[in-house]
Formats: sequence, structure tokens, C-alpha cells
Amino acid sequence: MKTLIKNGTLITASETFQADIFIDSEKIIQVGVGLKVGEDVEIVDASGKLIMPGGVDPHTHFDLPMFNTVSSDDHYTGHKAAAFGGTTTVIDFVPHEAGSLKENIDNWHAKADEKAAVDFSFHMNITHYNDQVLAEIPSLLNEGVTSLKVFMAYKHMKLSDGQIFQVMRLARDYQMLTMLHAEMGDVIDFLIPEALAAGHTSPEWHALTRPAWGAVETTLRGIAIAAQAEAPLYVVHMNAGGEVDMLAYARQRGLPVMGETCPQYLFFTIDNLRRPDGAKWICSPPMRTAADNQRLWEGLSDGTLQTVGTDHCPFFYDGTRPILYEGKEIAIPGKELGKSDFTKIPNGLPAVGDRLPILWTYGVGKGRITANQFVALTSTNPAKIFGLYPQKGSLMPGADADIVIWDAERRVTYGVRVAQHRTDYNLFEGWELVGFPEKVFLRGHLIVDRGKWLGKTGMGRFLRRQPFSELV
Ligand code: URP
Ligand code: ZN
Ligand code: ZN
Repeated sequence: MKTLIKNGTLITASETFQADIFIDSEKIIQVGVGLKVGEDVEIVDASGKLIMPGGVDPHTHFDLPMFNTVSSDDHYTGHKAAAFGGTTTVIDFVPHEAGSLKENIDNWHAKADEKAAVDFSFHMNITHYNDQVLAEIPSLLNEGVTSLKVFMAYKHMKLSDGQIFQVMRLARDYQMLTMLHAEMGDVIDFLIPEALAAGHTSPEWHALTRPAWGAVETTLRGIAIAAQAEAPLYVVHMNAGGEVDMLAYARQRGLPVMGETCPQYLFFTIDNLRRPDGAKWICSPPMRTAADNQRLWEGLSDGTLQTVGTDHCPFFYDGTRPILYEGKEIAIPGKELGKSDFTKIPNGLPAVGDRLPILWTYGVGKGRITANQFVALTSTNPAKIFGLYPQKGSLMPGADADIVIWDAERRVTYGVRVAQHRTDYNLFEGWELVGFPEKVFLRGHLIVDRGKWLGKTGMGRFLRRQPFSELV
């Protein structure tokens, strides 16, 4: 199928210019002014519209079992929601359960491959440490998995500093990238039972038992461990202003460390957890303060932070009441599981489809970041960092034709009815947006057209990623 997208304004991570894009056999073939093409070419007039590479979300959790339930978007519904928001590539985390790492990855393929509706890849969690796990890490390259996540929190998942050091060294030797969940597990594991014993069961205690200083210190500690291992590091879901300071400190000293934040940490605070429906905002790490929101925005604007992911891990607010999804009733146990105990509220929230529209209006629209930074943060940088560039995150000839035609004028009152997540709420309910995806192409196939879903289950392809090479 051949397509010519004419007269649009291309926005890349570094440039803005007028050009046409010619697509054939799922690839961008030519980019130029006044392109002439033959017969049998679908013409799409993008006059007055912006053209950007499809979003790359480096942080999702689809169909993830936890808290006696499962995250409510699977690898089809979550991919579809991503596409509606202009994201055409997602990287999901494979949990480290019993069995070999390869068996865990095979299990995740069994869940994802037939459902996938956009292109996807996997990161591997390393939450158990032994000689067998270490011996198997290098062979992940054969699976196209080139990034590992380690945790400093969660009782049954965290590794010791020495173990993290060993994983980082091994990752470095095989050109893999280590990702870090930075929270101070030992203190959290003390504060939670203490809060419960004192009768503190409401959602705000989720945040109060996971203090920001723990996130700040573990970010620096993770950086220091990576420096000693001479390994690159990517800090996920950065949420506290002090973490940005730590990253800046390290980058100013030339260390190969990078950071991601997520939309929820740019807008919300512990006050949201104090609302009667505060469970909607429960995720780990938690929401902080307005000053933290502000410092994270500065980090995006001044280049200290490299990516905006989502940590999309949705649950129903009330999983006893079905919603209609593609014409069928569905209800999945969710936040109500922790009605009387914050430690039983499933951790996570919907965001994969919100990321681009929200960041456009409140980032680019409010002058906090430029349109080029928007593309860098949401597409090009994650593609580079995770070994997908220039196949993804690019509008250059040879790249996959993952393209978003963006209507910068379109006004949308956002919320659960517009977002396509399979859940019963949206954190940005009623927010007024200016700028929204109009058409979304996955490898040249039109999958979203003015709010109409044209994609199909199974059309997303697994992306075998390149070893880590590009520091941004
Ligand atoms: O609450 C969240 N974000 N759940 C996902 C797990 C994680 O640490 O990313
Ligand atoms: Zn995490
Ligand atoms: Zn996560």
C-alpha cells in the first residue's frame, strides 16, 4: 500500500519544516517538498496539520497480575488506547516469576503476540538473584530484550546494593541498560505496618509511608552503584524534585545516567490521595507535592530528564460495576479491594493514551517545552535509549511509517469517554485540551482516523531491540 501525506508540517526532535512523506511497504521512502508519485497512491492532505513520529512509551504493564487481580488493559485493549493517544510502540515489563528468564519471556509472548495492536517490545525485571539468573542474563540478547529493571523496594522483589552492582556490571558487559525503581524499601517496610497498627488505612497513607527522601537517596545510590559498575543507568518513573537534582548532579559530572518521568507526577500531589476517591491516584512511587511537579517540569525543559513514559498499569475504580467495552460488559476487580486498607489497593493507574495529548496541551501549549522537545521526550529519545532508533522515533527515509497527523487546533474535553483505556475512570476527567491526534499510522496502515478504530488485534509486531548504545 502506497500513501503520500502532503503539505504537513513535520516536527522532529530537532527540526520543524514543511514536507510531504511518501510511504510504501510499511516504510517511509521519501521526505521532501512537492513530491511527485505515480498512480495507485492514497493521498492524505495534511494542510494545516503537524506530522510527528508515532509515540514510543517505554513503560507499560499490560495484563499484569497483582493484588489478587490483574491490570485491566491487556495487550490488545492497552495497545488500542495507546494508538488513540498517538503512541505506536510500547515496551512492557516481563515479571520475574518461577522458571528461567526465557520461560518468563515466553509466557509474556503467549499473552501479547496474538493480541498486539501496535508494535511492542519487552524489558525484563530481575527480582530474584542467584547464579542461574546471572548466567542467563546475556542470553536475553537472543530474545531481543536488552534492558533489565531492578528494584530497591518491594519486599519480595528488591535486590541488595551488591546484587544490583553485579547486575549492572553484567548488563554493561553485554551492552544492556539497567533500569532502576528508586524507593527506600527498608524504611517503607517499617512505616507501613506502623501506620496500619496506628489505624491509618486511608489512601494518603500510601504516600506518607513512601517518603520522597527515600526516592531521592535511592536515586543517588543507584547512580553511585552504576558509576562504580561503570554502567549506564535509566531511572524509571521519577517523581520527586530531589531526584531530578541527583540526576543533574550526575550528568554534570559526565555519568551516563538518564531519567524518565510520567504524566501523573507532573500534575498531581498527595492532596489527590486525600480526596474521597483518592484510591484512583494510588501508584508506586506515589504523588508528591506541587514543588516536585514544578521541578520535574524544569527537568523536562532543561534536558535533565530524557523521556516521558507512563507506567500505565490501570485498575477499575469500582470493579464491581461493569463498563461497556467494544459492546460487551466487563468488570475486573480493582481499587475497591482496598476500601478499608490502603495496602490492598492495587498500585497503578491508566495513562498510556493520555501521555501525548496531555503533554501537548500542558507542556507545549503552556510554553514549558517546545514541540521538538515534545517529540524527543515522547518518541525519539525512548527509541534511541532502548535500541529502536531509527526504525522508530524518526521520520527519516527507511524508518517504519509510524506517523501521527496532529491537529494542533482541535479542542477536546478529555476524560474516560475520550480515552480508550479499559477502565472506569480517567485522572484527567474534564480537562480542556487543545491539540489531539487526527490520524495515526502504524507501519503505513491507518489505525486511528478521527476517533475511529481501524486497527486489529494481532497486527502489532514484536520488536527485537539492539544492544544499548545511545546515551541522550
Ligand atoms: O504502581 C505502579 N506503578 N505499579 C507498577 C509497578 C512499578 O513499579 O512500575
Ligand atoms: Zn517501578
Ligand atoms: Zn512500572
